[in-house]
Parts: sequence; C-alpha cells; structure tokens
Amino acid sequence: MSVGSLLILPGDGIGPEVMAEVRRIIDWYGEKRDLTFDVSEDLVGGAAYDKHGTPLTDATMDHAQEVDAVLLGAVGGPKYDDLDFSVKPERGLLRLRKEMDLFANLRPAQCFDALADFSSLKKDVVAGLDIMIVRELTSGIYFGEPRGIFEEGNERVGINTQRYTESEIDRVARSAFELAMKRDKKLCSMEKANVMESGILWREVVTEVAKDYPEVELSHMYADAGAMQLCRWPKQFDVIVTDNLFGDLLSDAAAMLTGSLGMLPSASLGTPMENGRPKALYEPVHGSAPDIAGQGKANPIACILSFAMALRYSFDLGEEADRLEAAIEQVLADGKRTADLLGEEGVTPVSTSGMGDAILEALDNSL
Ligand code: NAD
Ligand code: IPM
Ligand code: MN
Repeated sequence: MSVGSLLILPGDGIGPEVMAEVRRIIDWYGEKRDLTFDVSEDLVGGAAYDKHGTPLTDATMDHAQEVDAVLLGAVGGPKYDDLDFSVKPERGLLRLRKEMDLFANLRPAQCFDALADFSSLKKDVVAGLDIMIVRELTSGIYFGEPRGIFEEGNERVGINTQRYTESEIDRVARSAFELAMKRDKKLCSMEKANVMESGILWREVVTEVAKDYPEVELSHMYADAGAMQLCRWPKQFDVIVTDNLFGDLLSDAAAMLTGSLGMLPSASLGTPMENGRPKALYEPVHGSAPDIAGQGKANPIACILSFAMALRYSFDLGEEADRLEAAIEQVLADGKRTADLLGEEGVTPVSTSGMGDAILEALDNSL
C-alpha cells in the first residue's frame, strides 16, 4: 500500500551517511509492513551548490511544496565557509522552511533510560526526561528586516531585526497548546519581555491564546532563566514554546540533556494542505558534523527518529512510529552505542551502518 510521497534531501557531511540508514528503514516498512513510500531524492546545501551554484534549486523547492513530507539530513561544512552569504548551504534550508511556511518546529528531548548515564548532568536529573520544545521557525531575528552589513560613518554595522506579528505568535502558540493538551497539559513560554518589546507582545498574545485552552497550565519565563532551569531541573517542563533564535539555542542545550546531539529529531510543520496533511519537513537537530564526516562514526538515530516523527505527523502511522522508537530503545538497552555515546569502559562502538543493522534486527523482532 502506498502511504504517500517523501522527498529525501541528504545534504552534506554526515547527512548522506545517516540518511542511508533511514532508507534501509523505509525499505523495511515496504517489505515487512506493506507500507511503501513514493520516495524521490535530490540535492540541498553544499551538494546542490557544487552542482547547480545554488544551495536549493527552484525545481527542488517546487517539488518540496508538492510532496507529503520532506526528510533532510544536514547542510553545511567548512568547504563552504567562505561562500557569499546568499549561496551558503544554510540558506537552502532556511528557504525551505520559509517558503513552505513551516512555522512550528517540534524538537522533543527524551532521555532513553539506557542513556541516562551519558548526560553531562546527574542521572536523576535526566532519567525519564520527556519534554517538547516548540520553536517558531519562519520569523523573528532570522528573517526580520532591515538586515545586512552597512557602512555607517567610517565603519560597518551589522544589523538583524527581531520582528514578530501577533498572528505569527498566535499560530505557533496554538500549536504548542494543542501539543500540551495531548501531553501533560503544561506549557512554559519563554521570551525576554524584560528587555524586548517583541517579548512583551509575545507574552501578551500567548496569554490571550491560553483563554482557549483553560485546561493547560501556562507559565512564562525569561529565556535566560529558562536556559538555567533547563540545566537545573529539566523535568519541571512539559512543552516549551519560544521564538526562533531562543529555540535554536535552547534545543541544542536540551539535546545534550539526552546524551548526544546525535539523538535529537525534529519536525517542522506548517498549515494543512488540501489532503489534510500539514506541510512538513523532518530533520535531525544536529548539523553536518564535519569533524566525523566520512568515517562511519555518525549516530543515525536522530535522523531515524525524525522519520518516526514523519510516520506520526504526516502519515498518521502513530503505531508504526511507536514500533520504530521501541526498536531504538531496545537497541540502546542492549548496549549498542555509536562513538558519540561512549563512556562506559569496555564498550566498543558500532558504526553508523552497524547501528542501522541493529535497529533493523530489532524491527524484525517486533513482528
Ligand atoms: P554539528 O551539529 O554539525 O556538530 C556539533 C558536534 O556534535 C560535533 O562534534 C559533531 O561531531 C557532533 N555530532 C553532531 N551530530 C552527530 C551525530 N549524528 N553523531 C555523532 N556526533 C554528532 O554542529 P556544528 O559543528 O556547529 O556545525 C557544522 C555545520 O553544520 C555548520 O556548517 C552548521 O551551519 C551546520 N548545521 C546544519 C544544521 C542543519 O542542517 N539542520 C544544523 C546545525 C548546524
Ligand atoms: C538548526 C540549525 C539551523 C538554524 C542553521 C543550520 C540554519 O542550527 O536547524 O538548528 O539555525 O536554524
Ligand atoms: Mn541549531
């Protein structure tokens, strides 16, 4: 049975390496669960720049708009550091997010029991952790105008603008409240209303939206204090909603609570298309990891968990997503680790494909 269309954009660095493991999982679903995806693959980031002189061609952009879901590996790398800003690999990813209007970026941070020892925090602080950061993804300081580097007198000035409209805050707040309703009904909104007008507006709008969700317990925190609380006692949180830049920082910090950046998936969702499915892009939170690229060391779990999120949010296959997540949990419980998760003495790391093998075996055992 064909469940829908999927555009795969492996990108740069470890992107293609972790995506190769996802493709094996996709094949497994076709063979063993009769769930086939109409898969196409294309270039993004530095790989697209190398071939086309742009990090995202119009044709790829158009294709991304038409499919049920996009799955992206990672973009960027030192080879592209000196490129003109407009054609940097990261611009390809930002264009996808903006033009697909993927305003709600869901970044769950879950600590698998088997990994509680790998966190830089004490085990009891992170064991059982399950939080969801909702990052606004299409506005804020990433996109606000004016922006640029300008001459001012006898020196240059670099300008970026934090800008949020009420409707932009309203829609991401609603996504966060909806998620909170399906979870522990607790939402913490983070901004800096003490120093930023956009933060004052953010707090006002979120408070207004809360009236439609009386069952959800809403709290507000300044984002700097939120960063501190995330390290001090992260289990106080259920859902966190915050802006584009704070969400970028807070989600990297949250990733480390779970043991490794190589564990954290994300879903970027927009408004529903004609078929009722939301516009969607799934990607690991980590980047192209140039320091380990090409060595078979990358942890593919973040990317595989991103595919699990696609099963859940784009293809209405929540039970299959549970199956895949349980397989990963099983593999970790069995002691399989890629190099980023080492720490225990006497444990030899498995390679990227070795981790893929183990997950496929656990999937077979789930049948
Ligand atoms: P990074 O996430 O690529 O790497 C940070 C550290 O985490 C590195 O030590 C890396 O080896 C490790 N790491 C990351 N993912 C891993 C995995 N799956 N398995 C094992 N270890 C992993 O961040 P960076 O070094 O700051 O950025 C490198 C490049 O990636 C830059 O060009 C940056 O712009 C880009 N980037 C892209 C994305 C994306 O495509 N969504 C996200 C973040 C950074
Ligand atoms: C992320 C990355 C991106 C961001 C970059 C690569 C554009 O850090 O997805 O977290 O800043 O949003
Ligand atoms: Mn980031």
